[in-house]
Amino acid sequence: MGTPPHRPDDRARSPLLRTKSVEQSIRDTEEPEHALRKSLSALDLTVFGVGVVIGTGIFVLTGQVARSYAGPAVALSFVAASVVCGLAGLCYAEFASTVPVAGSAYTFSYASIGELPAWIIGWDLVLELALGCAVVAVGWSGYIRSLLDTAGATLPQALSGTSPGGGFGFDLLAFLLVLVITGVLVVGMKLSARVTSVIVAVKVVVVLIVIFAGLGYVKSANYHPFLPPAQPTGGKNGLGAPLVQLMTGYTPTTFGVWGIFSAAAVVFFAFIGFDIVATAAEETHRPQRDVPRGILGSLIICTVLYVAVSVVVTGMEKYTRLSVDAPLADAFKANNAPFWAGLISFGAAIGLTSVCMILLLGQSRVFFAMSRDGLLPRMFSQVHPNYGTPYRSTLLLGVIVAVVAGFTSISELSELVNIGTLFAFVVVAIGVVVLRRTRPDLPRAFRTPLVPLVPVLSVAASLWLMINLPAETWLRFGVWMLVGFVVYFAYGKGHSRLGRGR
Ligand code: ALA
Repeated sequence: MGTPPHRPDDRARSPLLRTKSVEQSIRDTEEPEHALRKSLSALDLTVFGVGVVIGTGIFVLTGQVARSYAGPAVALSFVAASVVCGLAGLCYAEFASTVPVAGSAYTFSYASIGELPAWIIGWDLVLELALGCAVVAVGWSGYIRSLLDTAGATLPQALSGTSPGGGFGFDLLAFLLVLVITGVLVVGMKLSARVTSVIVAVKVVVVLIVIFAGLGYVKSANYHPFLPPAQPTGGKNGLGAPLVQLMTGYTPTTFGVWGIFSAAAVVFFAFIGFDIVATAAEETHRPQRDVPRGILGSLIICTVLYVAVSVVVTGMEKYTRLSVDAPLADAFKANNAPFWAGLISFGAAIGLTSVCMILLLGQSRVFFAMSRDGLLPRMFSQVHPNYGTPYRSTLLLGVIVAVVAGFTSISELSELVNIGTLFAFVVVAIGVVVLRRTRPDLPRAFRTPLVPLVPVLSVAASLWLMINLPAETWLRFGVWMLVGFVVYFAYGKGHSRLGRGR
């Protein structure tokens, strides 16, 4: 690829909209001190994608959502969420194959829209990945405790996470899991990819067991009604109701057609992670070809599995009786199949480990890219001389996430993760259109079809899911972004390498 100079107008533009050229982004990855090792293939990326995508969403949220929002129609919610992700995936794939450097949507926006939007998206990704990892660690800890209980060993209440009554509880297992994973990531990409492959295989086998062993227990009566009629939500009014229902003055309801979308906004969590494949572009041997394959491949595999699992599980047990903590395993218990139930719990616990690992990996890479650009202190983008990993950012973030996981409960945080991720989708879709206009000359190994129609649909679909999230989630998200603005104006704006003329 040729290396045209910076566009002359870059410095003259408002600092907030200065863009880093795509060529500069790629050159940065070649500076020896700040270069990551390029060792991943398309298969590694797909394994990464599936490894992070299948997790708490399908293992835990399916049951909650079928009970409270959609009944057996939760399968349609998975389809709706996958359409949103598919549209975003087509945009991510173009960006990732054009700008193959660490940092995902952050880097893409820096190269296309401007520094401030890039900062906003990077800050937003930290929310998605850090809290996502913490949420999954807590879910993992729940499965392990359930297995321990079965074996007759029980952890003291004070070390088992926040109690349902809201009393103090430190989630020791979640805390330890994140620390161990941090150690693995510091030691190196290759090791963590190998460990991940084994774990992903176990997880996919467990999901297939649910589908094929579960088929034998399906009763057609459980599918009636498939879409339960709409009913007013009990306590969910005020800020707890979906924003769209408050905006339209509609009495908040669950089930019915609205229910499918409320459920989709929650089970969207189950798809989070396919975008993280893009964050590993810099460590990919042939990013132009392999990153789009990794993103779309993992998305398709997961959609098929989710729809199959949700159809089978809601057929095995009436949706009103599905368990909230371990719905897949408990549906087998309810059908007197404890062997399968135990195996599934065990596999789920193993599977959630890889989700945590990849979320943490993605997060440290975003942080790494922001630090390399000077928007966060540069010391965090030094790579380890032997392992070739950004060990400082990995350690710093790993310890913070471990503490958050130790003191966090799942439900509200997962909604916050969803809104953050959907916001990133919106920015990426806009970025595709902007970059097509500003840099039509760049080679694009993968081109999003039907631009600008697909990006416009992607923005609309992501916004639709966002407004189906509770108003209070919007408030929390607003506060997080406000803090981000303060950090940018207090530090990033003045230290930006681009702003200082590198
Ligand atoms: N998609 C991941 C999960 O469901 C984050 O756990």
